[in-house]
Amino acid sequence: MAAFKTLDDLDVGGKRVLVRVDFNVPMDGDRVSDTTRLERAVPTVRELVDRKARVILLSHFGRPKGARVPEMSLRPVADAFAGVLGRPVSFVEESRGEIAERAVAGLADGDVLLLENTRFEAGEEKNAADYADDLAKLGDFYVNDAFSAAHRAHASTEGIAQRLPSAAGRSMQRELDYLALALAAPKRPVMAVVGGAKVSTKLDVLENLIEKADKLVVGGGMANTFLLAKGMDIGKSLAEPDLAATARSIADKAAAQGCALLLPKDVVVAKEFAPNPDTRVCAPDDVAADEMILDVGPESVDQYAAELEGCATLLWNGPLGAFETPPFHTATVELAKFGAKLSVAGALTSIAGGGDTVAALNVAQAAEDFTYVSTAGGAFLEFIEGKTLPGVAALETSAASSA
Ligand code: 3PG
Ligand code: MG
Repeated sequence: MAAFKTLDDLDVGGKRVLVRVDFNVPMDGDRVSDTTRLERAVPTVRELVDRKARVILLSHFGRPKGARVPEMSLRPVADAFAGVLGRPVSFVEESRGEIAERAVAGLADGDVLLLENTRFEAGEEKNAADYADDLAKLGDFYVNDAFSAAHRAHASTEGIAQRLPSAAGRSMQRELDYLALALAAPKRPVMAVVGGAKVSTKLDVLENLIEKADKLVVGGGMANTFLLAKGMDIGKSLAEPDLAATARSIADKAAAQGCALLLPKDVVVAKEFAPNPDTRVCAPDDVAADEMILDVGPESVDQYAAELEGCATLLWNGPLGAFETPPFHTATVELAKFGAKLSVAGALTSIAGGGDTVAALNVAQAAEDFTYVSTAGGAFLEFIEGKTLPGVAALETSAASSA
């Protein structure tokens, strides 16, 4: 795997360590409604505290676009993180300049300080040199523990790593290790499951995964475009007719690569998209003009499960059906449960992430039993597209230049 440094390579005792975390957490008023991302930051922060570093946390929150938006202050998140960490976390309402510098100067070994939302500064998203310089002044080392923001080339994810000796935090390291298990050096055979509404948002994912996976299940609204491309009449199902030719070429490439493309052979249809309408199961070429496909059918799920049983690795991104609206969560839930069962039995390495995926696995109560579930949305997608993430690349460059 890539040559970046880790906390093992830094002598942090008594030093100021800037840690980029992703505290872009969902809020319900002033309360953090899902603390997963806060929990993911704990191993790195706890280790640095134990090793007597002075820990300075950096994060973005929301998209304030360079303005100071009071509702996007990280102040309430400092208290929430203190609760999760089990020790005090102080907060300062700036991320640069005198006020921030004074707060940092006041830290004792083992203290933890959270700076204000980096996106209150216009220089953050522009990766401006003056902002990266000001951030770098606050620390002796930089640790990036925010995989989920690593697809952004911003001052706090990229520019700063060019200015300080840098390393990956424990969560970043874990994420990259598990993604390598799924993509760079997986145990074969590999099944990829790609779902979601639109082919257009997953083109690069599909192109990359047909090269990496032995079997590729295409589900969700995306599958409809592939069915359409095969000349099937899919009624009023959601599809992208403009992309039928693209879908055909992806299917051809998959065949040429020896990747088995698995499309639904039965589907669940309804006349309206609403909770619990009348439904029926039919072949994909038997959809009536006033019906739409809203989930993969039970025979297809059985087939995918049988194929999965012969696989060593599962990479999952996106739901198979309209999972937020019952009963169209059924296929996703069944296959996720089966993947979870194989994982618990030690027969399968299962890795999932991106957008709706975590929510879908939570509906299936399968997330905990998967081998690894990423908290990243866009970064996970870009990674499985085969793209280089600027935040990760910057760690590699930093490691190479100090080697
Ligand atoms: C996320 O929530 O996906 C990350 O924190 C990145 O946020 P962004 O899409 O606003 O850059
Ligand atoms: Mg996002």
